[in-house]
Order: sequence, then structure tokens, then C-alpha cells
Amino acid sequence: MNSNIRPDSMKRITDFDLANKFIDEQVAEIRAQVGDKKVLLALSGGVDSSVVAALLIKAIGRQLVCVHVNHGLMRKGESEQVIEVFGKELDANLIYIDATDRFLDLLKGVSEPEKKRKIIGGEFIKVFDEEASKLEGISFLAQGTIYPDILESDGVKAHHNVGGLPEDMQFELVEPVKLLYKDEVRVVGEALGLPHAMVYRQPFPGPGLGVRCLGAITRDRLHALREADAILREEFDNCGLAEKVWQYFIAVPDFKSVGVRDNKRYEGWPAIIRAVNTKDAMSATIEEIPYSVLHKITDRITHEVEGINRVLLDLTPKPIGTIEWE
Ligand code: XMP
Repeated sequence: MNSNIRPDSMKRITDFDLANKFIDEQVAEIRAQVGDKKVLLALSGGVDSSVVAALLIKAIGRQLVCVHVNHGLMRKGESEQVIEVFGKELDANLIYIDATDRFLDLLKGVSEPEKKRKIIGGEFIKVFDEEASKLEGISFLAQGTIYPDILESDGVKAHHNVGGLPEDMQFELVEPVKLLYKDEVRVVGEALGLPHAMVYRQPFPGPGLGVRCLGAITRDRLHALREADAILREEFDNCGLAEKVWQYFIAVPDFKSVGVRDNKRYEGWPAIIRAVNTKDAMSATIEEIPYSVLHKITDRITHEVEGINRVLLDLTPKPIGTIEWE
């Protein structure tokens, strides 16, 4: 498939039969394109790059070199899942780089949201570039471009997206899912055997928890955010909201309030719950979370997470509030 235009004759992939047919065609095309050469892929663990990785592993096995850069701003367990699924279960040729210190050192004291985004995006490219230059014999670069990316931005992944790679990289592109819509990518991912949680993962901004640890990021507050977010996700899984709500997360601002714990003064940050529904992320409405669930989440976060002493609920639709706080 060289064209960037989806032919009218192409059926929407809605079931495993259609997905398996697509997979067989792509495996043959990838083999024909790549031959015995090596392909490089930045594997974030998001839906698109994960499905591309699984497809390429099926087609060319260890000729695919996956690089997973952990920028230290992933949600709890995400990098571990990439290592488990791709490194162990699928036996991928996976290079894991823990660049947490590099990113957090650069972000120290930086409070301006766009500056934080630029630092994270720029450093990601640098780390990926450094790794790529150490590898020999790479001829192709695989990308998880999907059809909406082509429709929205003429084939180039949005530049604010971490994972957007330098334009001067001299590789031929392999983009096996570029004519698929997101729902089709998910069906293909499940047909390839990827875990449901990975394939149906909610959208997560490229700069990750960096834009939810509001203001200048500190390690202790980032840790509190990650733990509180994990509790929110667990409780949403338990009560069925995870399948229903489009995007939900915690943000932690950089101010404290007075509280009391174990009969002593306990100053802590608030954890803000945001849970929204939308079709296209341009506007969003608020999910009405049952009070019993809110109480459970509040109880767990304030008891289990060091540094948090209040839980707040953001009731603001978009507009006027954006989905993310930064
Ligand atoms: P906002 O906050 O603009 O977010 O209402 C709309 C959607 O985009 C996601 N988002 C980002 N995704 N890099 C990304 O890859 C970013 O810098 C970024 N900022 C926001 C956000 O999570 C929501 O789904």
C-alpha cells in the first residue's frame, strides 16, 4: 500500500476475519518491502506503535528493533508492560532506555507548560537519535501513523506529539496501519494477540504525567501523582467506568493545604480527578461519577498516597477548561 488515500473498496475492519485478512496482506507487503534489512521503531506502548510493533514482529521477527524510551513521565506500570509484552512474550528485539534522570534534571524548576512540552519533545528526539546512531544496518523506520493523522496533517504526525521524530532521519518509512481508523487498529491489535488493556488504552498525552504534575515537576510530587492516578484507574476498572469514560486522570498542583493525619498537622497536595467524555477531544463533557465511587477513591488516595491530603473533582466541561490542565 503506497498510496495515502484509502480506497473506497476498502472494507471497515470490524471483526477478526477482516483483521486477519488485513494482517496476512500486511505481513506479505512488509516482507516484500523490507527483505532481510532492519527496521527501527520508537515503541511508546500506545495503541498505534504497539500494533505496528506486533505486526512487524509477525512479519520480520527480530529484524525489527524496538526502542522504548522511558522519560520518567509514564503512568504506573506502563514501561513494565512494554517490557513484559514485547520483550518477554513476543520475544522482540527491544532496547529499553530509562532516561528518567535526563528528563527530570532538564525539567527541574521549569514551570511554564509549553516550555515543559518543548523540553520533553526535544529530549525524546535526542535520546532516540543517540540510540539510533549506535545501531548498525538500519534501513527503515516504522511509524504508527494512522489514517486520521494523514487526514489531519498531511501525513506528518503532530509535532507536539512525543514520538514525532526528526524530519532529517534518512530512513525509508514503513507505515502498515496508515490507512486504518483507530477502531480498526484496535481490532487488528486484538487479532494479533495484544492484551485488551493495551489495545483499548485511553489516550495519553505524549508528555505524559509531565503535564499533570502542574508547574515545576518534583520527584516526590510526580511519585504521588503516579500512585494516585493508579488508584483512580484501578477503581474505575472495578466499577466499570473504565470501559465507559473516554479519558480520566489525576492532576496534582504545586501547592499544599493544611490537613490532619494521626492527630498531627499534615500538609499535602490536592489530587484533582478529571473524567471526561468526547468524540474528537475538541469539546468534552463531564462524566457523572457515583458518590460511592468518589468516596472510595478519596479514602484510598488520602490513606495510601504519601503527600496527598485532599481529593477534588473537576466539573468543568471543554470549553471552557481544556481536557488537560496544562
Ligand atoms: P486538551 O488539553 O487540549 O487535550 O483539551 C485534548 C486531547 O489531546 C491530548 N493532549 C496531548 N496529546 N501531546 C499529546 O500527544 C500533548 O502535548 C497533548 N496535550 C493534550 C489530551 O490528553 C486530550 O486527549
